[in-house]
Amino acid sequence: MLLKSRALDNSFACEVLGLRLWEPQDDQTIDELRALWARHPVLVFGRQALSEDELANFSTRFGPLERTVRTDWASPARPEVGLISNLKDAQAKPIGGLGDGEIQWHSDQSYMLNPATGAMLYALELPLEGGATSWVDLSAAFAGLPDRLKHAVEGKHGIFSYIKRLAGYQGVDRVISEEAKQKTPPIRHPLVHTHPITGRKALYLDSTTTVGVEGMGEASGASLLEEIYEFATRPEFTYCHHWQIGDALLWDNGFTMHRREPFDPLARRLMKRTTIFLSRERHIVPEGSLAVAA
Ligand code: SIN
Repeated sequence: MLLKSRALDNSFACEVLGLRLWEPQDDQTIDELRALWARHPVLVFGRQALSEDELANFSTRFGPLERTVRTDWASPARPEVGLISNLKDAQAKPIGGLGDGEIQWHSDQSYMLNPATGAMLYALELPLEGGATSWVDLSAAFAGLPDRLKHAVEGKHGIFSYIKRLAGYQGVDRVISEEAKQKTPPIRHPLVHTHPITGRKALYLDSTTTVGVEGMGEASGASLLEEIYEFATRPEFTYCHHWQIGDALLWDNGFTMHRREPFDPLARRLMKRTTIFLSRERHIVPEGSLAVAA
């Protein structure tokens, strides 16, 4: 088949039309989606009706699924599916993670040595207002950087720490298991990568986990990152998604960051998410190594 798609808001996000993701997709469709995804890091599939198995089965076509360190957010029925929700069970315990607060610009899994950089988020229940999610295209942002900043950041490694991410969370989301702590030591990733399909360079950033730039002092590293975040998150590089029930978004964390707006804690929001190990042949997959203490 030849996929039908349209750019959203004249941005890098692209809506794929006419696919019923609850049905098995043939290899040609998956190849066409892969080609589209290399150029449009956010793909939107509207009007879906997916079980957890169907969400997981579609996601698996792009790579093996990761069971993230947030085992406390995993669906009891299908643990590769994470629940992103402010809902609570009968014992008043959150059924998933990330509550109702604002979530700052970040890239999922940037704190992992081998980040699983693909993600899919599917909307089941939504507040009437708030809770929109925005993405920034870090490839376009890199291309637009002034030469001074390009030179300053190329060849540098950022230090990424899950401890910083946890400090920005609310309530029980701040608490992780001993096993999760062991799996998330501070690590380093290059701050600039080249996409293997398009050849375009892209920044790799996460304002919620980056604690410094290797080889730079604390103040100069922080000020370089601050300048880059400010430039990279300009409106011309972003797409804001106002969710409808049944939307499923597939994105590549290798060259995007995303953020979420807060919403009314009394409203209900239920999203289901998969996390996908993408291949280096087709995607930017940052190669991590352990950060050495300064
Ligand atoms: C996330 O940041 O991974 C969740 C985004 C959202 O809840 O919209």
